[in-house]
Amino acid sequence: MPRSRSVAREIPGVDWRLWPGELAQPDWTEIFAAPSDPPLRIHVDIGFGRGEFLTELARREPDAGFIGIERDFERVLKFARQLSRMPIRNIRLIGSAAEWAVREAFADASVTSFWINFPDPWPKRDHRRRRLIAPRFVAELARKLAPGGGLYVATDDADYAAAIDAVLSRVRGLYNAHSPDRFRNRRSAPHTTRFEQQWTQGGRQCFYFQYRSRAPSVATVLTADRPPRSVPGLPELPRKRA
Ligand SMILES: C[S@@+](CC[C@H](N)C(=O)[O-])C[C@H]1O[C@@H](n2cnc3c(N)ncnc32)[C@H](O)[C@@H]1O
Repeated sequence: MPRSRSVAREIPGVDWRLWPGELAQPDWTEIFAAPSDPPLRIHVDIGFGRGEFLTELARREPDAGFIGIERDFERVLKFARQLSRMPIRNIRLIGSAAEWAVREAFADASVTSFWINFPDPWPKRDHRRRRLIAPRFVAELARKLAPGGGLYVATDDADYAAAIDAVLSRVRGLYNAHSPDRFRNRRSAPHTTRFEQQWTQGGRQCFYFQYRSRAPSVATVLTADRPPRSVPGLPELPRKRA
């Protein structure tokens, strides 16, 4: 007999989801029941999908706090159900749009790393404004990163990679850790996401960006300088329509 929807919505163990009311710059040290010294390292996976990458990160660094942000309610629920059966205690989930959650949930200069794996590419010209990697959002991420913290972005879409390169390379306060390369075609992290396995097994090229936060005093404002329009290995950036 098929299980009813209400049963599938129950969380069989601890529910690690956080709710909007708990997110006005919460005390993450308290939420993770972590010692205050040394300061808790906070890692954030944005658009975690099925959560396998987040799970692997959390397994590898049990004394750090991992926060997954995902706007698809069903995905959050499904992963919350899986997580509640696992012996992992250092993941919390936020079911909302990342643009809102990042602004609300983290103090400036407090996040050790942001991971954005295979954000929806929105390839149609009219849909590009829906892309997650946009100047204002990345400036917000840069503001939230601790000094030396990392922003890791992966995509399999060459057009989106060109746009990501253009956005990231314009944020003051971040520097390209892969320089002089704009990106790498192989991931340095030892594990992958399900999408990534599909793409790479199918022989598709992936683009991995890694940027780091310079110093707390550097304002994370966009520069007026435009990046070069064409970068070896990437298609030319689309021109804005007049
Ligand atoms: C292509 S999937 C990639 C999932 C996963 N990161 C992976 O690599 O397997 C993109 C995910 O980002 C989520 N997403 C898209 N826009 C988002 C936003 N603004 N805030 C949070 N999650 C978002 C989608 O719901 C989807 O789960």
